Amino acid sequence: MRTIYMLGNWKMNQSLSDINSFSEELAVAWTNMPKIAQCGIAPQAMHLSLLREKLPTDLMVGAQTCSEHLSGAFTGELSPEALSELNMSFTLVGHSERRHLYGETDGQINAKIKTALTKNLRVIFCIGEQLEEREAGNTESVLKTQITNGLKDIKPSTHIVIAYEPVWAIGTGKTATPEMAQETHAYVRSVLKEIGFDADSTSILYGGSVKPDNVEGLLKCKDIDGGLVGGASLKAKDFLALCYAANNA
Ligand code: PGA
Repeated sequence: MRTIYMLGNWKMNQSLSDINSFSEELAVAWTNMPKIAQCGIAPQAMHLSLLREKLPTDLMVGAQTCSEHLSGAFTGELSPEALSELNMSFTLVGHSERRHLYGETDGQINAKIKTALTKNLRVIFCIGEQLEEREAGNTESVLKTQITNGLKDIKPSTHIVIAYEPVWAIGTGKTATPEMAQETHAYVRSVLKEIGFDADSTSILYGGSVKPDNVEGLLKCKDIDGGLVGGASLKAKDFLALCYAANNA
């Protein structure tokens, strides 16, 4: 049995008043939520502690990225040590916006994963191909390179969560069909197996325009173990619907 996750990635969104109304609306419904899946939210960095205070304790709060260093002269960076001191549960690493807008390399991503693990943060390692790469038939080789470089020199017994997010499906409203996503997830699992990880117990989440109306079809696929959701996680009503679906998966 693999853990099912439903994680919201708020990116650089949500004002203080949005956060207040989200937490109030969520609190009312949360008590009746079956608690089987691991649900959580990654807000922008300055809202991490506030969210930890406002959200129910069994809803995880985590970061959208972290530094590969624990401390030092790295202006603007986010220390995994500080995240762990603030009781954050997880960190995303290698999100496509970090890779493509901020030039994060596989090497840096590998270093970030290693550093986050030293502080016992759960790592959600994001991978995904761009549209040109899929159209050129290179999806598998791109993903294999991202996985092998990102997990280089990491003990295969380490517990890592993977988030497969085709870049062309992020924020575009275009979701991979469940069949497409399943095929790619099965491939990702085969690569994990090949490099010695316990692939059968590794949760592989799907991300890219996941919404309440397409989540069930995705979660039915045997190799899809949850979702990483941007836009549809911003409204409490939609996030709750996604969490219900994950708990019923
Ligand atoms: P989206 O974003 O759900 O808005 O497509 C997903 C993500 O970037 O993690």
